[in-house]
Amino acid sequence: MKHLIQLLFFICLSVSWVITASSDDSDGCIACHQIIDEDRDDDEKIMTHIMEDVHFQKGLSCSDCHGGNPNAGDDEDEAMWDVDDFVGAVDKKDQPRFCGKCHSDPEYMRQYSAHIKTDQESQYWTSHHGQKLTENDEHVAVCTDCHGVHGIYPIKDPRSLVYHMNVPTTCKRCHSDKDIMANSGLPTDQFDKYKSSVHGTALFDKKDIGAPACNDCHGNHGAMPPTILSISDICGTCHANNAELFKGSHLREIFIKENIKLCEGCHNHHDILKPTDEALNWSENETCSHCHSDGQDKANRLAGTLFNIIDSLNNKIEEAIETVDLAENKGMEVSELFFSLEDAHKNLIQTRTSIHSFNEEFVRKTSEDGYKAADAAIIGAEQALTEFGFRKKGLIVFSLILTFFVIVLYLKLKSMENK
Ligand code: HEC
Ligand code: HEC
Ligand code: HEC
Ligand code: HEC
Ligand code: HEC
Ligand code: HEC
Ligand code: HEC
Ligand code: HEC
Ligand code: HEC
Repeated sequence: MKHLIQLLFFICLSVSWVITASSDDSDGCIACHQIIDEDRDDDEKIMTHIMEDVHFQKGLSCSDCHGGNPNAGDDEDEAMWDVDDFVGAVDKKDQPRFCGKCHSDPEYMRQYSAHIKTDQESQYWTSHHGQKLTENDEHVAVCTDCHGVHGIYPIKDPRSLVYHMNVPTTCKRCHSDKDIMANSGLPTDQFDKYKSSVHGTALFDKKDIGAPACNDCHGNHGAMPPTILSISDICGTCHANNAELFKGSHLREIFIKENIKLCEGCHNHHDILKPTDEALNWSENETCSHCHSDGQDKANRLAGTLFNIIDSLNNKIEEAIETVDLAENKGMEVSELFFSLEDAHKNLIQTRTSIHSFNEEFVRKTSEDGYKAADAAIIGAEQALTEFGFRKKGLIVFSLILTFFVIVLYLKLKSMENK
């Protein structure tokens, strides 16, 4: 049975290969345009990438997109110019509909893939790009700006312009270009800021594909700047605990009332940096103080309290590490204590996250387990050190007794020799 299936599969594969191969041969569009390509500059040659294009790979050809008659041999008029459904070079403003001819048609697309989405075009018209395109703004992105033309790859293919790692450079092409962005009045610093942010360095330097690229925050086809409320939802898709805690805080209500962007109010958006405990240290850092002047007691006091809880937990953990190290260096068996140190460290991270409740009691309560774990390590290490002290004393007494016996033995031998 297994072999029969394999054989059938092989036959299907061969037949489809023969069909595609022969259709390529008789496809007048390809035959003639291959010749035209010879006189074109390298970067304008259509055939260079098209055989690897996802559409060609799926068995589509020139006429599926452009219309025309691929069976007209080398008659240009019959192949293109005299054919009603022929669409030549596509005007920018018509492109979304041109691609949408298939991509917005669920029945058509499902023949190829059961799960492919068919909302790209409708999403696109709701985006800032789409809205500006209807006003004839030719600077905005259309489908081919983000996907390419005769070399479109599946989005999971590293050659795709929208492969996760490639997205920021694809958006940058326009968004960092002062001429293209001139009419919009938008800044052109998003890429540079993003590149040096925690997210940009995670994506580019650490190759961490869990880090967000531009489209994770702005959407793929509905590219919009996120609104106040959606920002924390977007950040929350990855930073769920922070978002959940902040949701329960009264600071969030105040931010919404005052029209302050939620997570962004303290972290910014493109240039998000690695926060440190010092962010809560009023005099050292401006995370709170760039909105609160010194006189504002409530905010100042809360920041100070939170900073102290984290700072003293940090100090406690450092003390624990030093004590355990000391015991380990004396050769004592302390491997169990490393588990306590690890627990304490995990709790420190949780406590840092817990500040997003902006509730002193909650943060204090969260930190309690960290203190307990650090204390357990300190007590364990001190016991080991005490034991080490005992052993040392025991060793001295033992050495003294041993020396005594050696001397007695020596004297005994000496007196026997004399006899
Ligand atoms: C016998 C040669 C020949 C055949 C067959 C042919 N073309 Fe063309 N095609 C041309 C020439 C010549 C041009 C104009 C010069 C150019 O754009 O390089 C052209 C232009 C085009 C253009 C750009 C039109 C524009 O408005 O600028 C498209 C798109 C195109 N062809 C697609 C096709 C498709 C699809 C087929 C098959 C259905 C096809 N061609 C068959 C020779 C051919
Ligand atoms: C996935 C759809 C798609 C397929 C398949 C496709 N094209 Fe195109 N083609 C386009 C779009 C969109 C444009 C307009 C791009 C632009 O102007 O930026 C275009 C533009 C063109 C142009 C005019 C611009 C130029 O580069 O000269 C020619 C000629 C052309 N196509 C020929 C072909 C030929 C020949 C094939 C088959 C080998 C083919 N196309 C396959 C979508 C397609
Ligand atoms: C501003 C850039 C941009 C524009 C404009 C754009 N796309 Fe996309 N497209 C993307 C990104 C980014 C992805 C998703 C990549 C991912 O999920 O990793 C994507 C994914 C896709 C996919 C894969 C299925 C899916 O929806 O995830 C298809 C098909 C697609 N786009 C077609 C289109 C069509 C058709 C148009 C024009 C109507 C278009 N795109 C316009 C950036 C763009
Ligand atoms: C003739 C119908 C047709 C037209 C027109 C068309 N496509 Fe496609 N496209 C398809 C089919 C079929 C697939 C393969 C779907 C699959 O099996 O995943 C595909 C796949 C894609 C993919 C890969 C999706 C993925 O899941 O990775 C992208 C991106 C894409 N098309 C973009 C475009 C763009 C941009 C245009 C316009 C320039 C366009 N398509 C025009 C039929 C079409
Ligand atoms: C072909 C050039 C081009 C590409 C590529 C491009 N954009 Fe744009 N985008 C624009 C232009 C131009 C505007 C400004 C339109 C206006 O307001 O006049 C814009 C506007 C935007 C806006 C709205 C900003 C606001 O506050 O009004 C967002 C968000 C955006 N783009 C995100 C993206 C993302 C994300 C990508 C990459 C996936 C991308 N763009 C790729 C040209 C481009
Ligand atoms: C971590 C989420 C996130 C990432 C990643 C991100 N953005 Fe944004 N972006 C935002 C938020 C939030 C805003 C809204 C800013 C506001 O209105 O205060 C914004 C605003 C914008 C705007 C409007 C103008 C501006 O600068 O405020 C553009 C354009 C834009 N982003 C493009 C990009 C591009 C291009 C990239 C990738 C290089 C990118 N963004 C990456 C969250 C993100
Ligand atoms: C697609 C997932 C994703 C989204 C969306 C996202 N982040 Fe992140 N973020 C990450 C990852 C992954 C890291 C870890 C980077 C590293 O340290 O290697 C990170 C790191 C951070 C850090 C530094 C944490 C630390 O301990 O160093 C902050 C702060 C941060 N993000 C804030 C935000 C904010 C604010 C938003 C929304 C505007 C946001 N993130 C959106 C995935 C995401
Ligand atoms: C009122 C200011 C403020 C707001 C609003 C805020 N944060 Fe923070 N965030 C901080 C401070 C301060 C720290 C540093 C805490 C520390 O390291 O001691 C921090 C640390 C972080 C960290 C790193 C520590 C950890 O939990 O891994 C992440 C990630 C983070 N914030 C994400 C978010 C997200 C997501 C939002 C929105 C839901 C948000 N923050 C809203 C002030 C804020
Ligand atoms: C983006 C601006 C902004 C940032 C950053 C900010 N706050 Fe606030 N905060 C406000 C505003 C606006 C109010 C309401 C008016 C007021 O009391 O000053 C407020 C009020 C407060 C209050 C008083 C709540 C009450 O019960 O009345 C506390 C406490 C507070 N913030 C703590 C902090 C701490 C701690 C930080 C730093 C981690 C911080 N805030 C960062 C804007 C900000």
